[in-house]
Amino acid sequence: MIIAPSLLAPDFGRLAKETGRVDRSGADWLHLDSMDGHFVPNISFGPTVVQRVRPLTRLFFDVHLMCSKPEILLEPFAEAGANQMNIHVELGDQVTQLLWRIKALGKKVGLAINPPTAISLVHPYLNQIDSLLIMTVNPGFGGQSFIYETLPKIQQAREWREARNLRFRIGVDGGVDFKTAADCAHAGADTFISGTTLFQRRNLAAAVKKMRKVAAGAARLNRAEVLTTDGHR
Ligand code: DX5
Ligand code: ZN
Repeated sequence: MIIAPSLLAPDFGRLAKETGRVDRSGADWLHLDSMDGHFVPNISFGPTVVQRVRPLTRLFFDVHLMCSKPEILLEPFAEAGANQMNIHVELGDQVTQLLWRIKALGKKVGLAINPPTAISLVHPYLNQIDSLLIMTVNPGFGGQSFIYETLPKIQQAREWREARNLRFRIGVDGGVDFKTAADCAHAGADTFISGTTLFQRRNLAAAVKKMRKVAAGAARLNRAEVLTTDGHR
């Protein structure tokens, strides 16, 4: 289970302090949302901000590019200290090249998919990625409600991963709270991006621990169901 607080949620005037809080919270990754005001109707931050927070923690930096032209940002983000970069499958025929460029920069490769996009679109790329990021809200803003219709996508991704013996992570991003994290884990998610829910807690470490616990519990339940349905595993 990976728990990744999203740095979109806290007050941008306190980014250094909040990064320190995440560093001490027991979280696994720090999720960094870059928005260009074109791919999504909002603007957040770019490589310079990532470069500024990089010395404050040794956490794995998971950069989520909600940008129409990620090709101009891959190298700057790599230099700023990203460990993984996620680009969106909605970019169509540019996707293959972008995934290769991320890999060539020596970074982990992530592919994100928006709620209205059919999960079949990610299928051709599954053997080229380290992480699949299933958006559970329409990207652009924190604090939105989880879209339950995205749950079957998680199940489908997990089935494909098993059938093809692949190892990519299955992440969920948007509206992930303690209830929806459990629902996602039950469906097969193993990586939980959460902004508002985690940061609104005074005790971030306790919130991270709680999310890890509910997710692990739901994943175990799912495993037990698999055991009872086919009896042999
Ligand atoms: C949404 C971003 C998310 C966002 C999640 O466009 O990609 O990473 O920070 O925030 P919450 O958890 O508040 O929905
Ligand atoms: Zn994100």
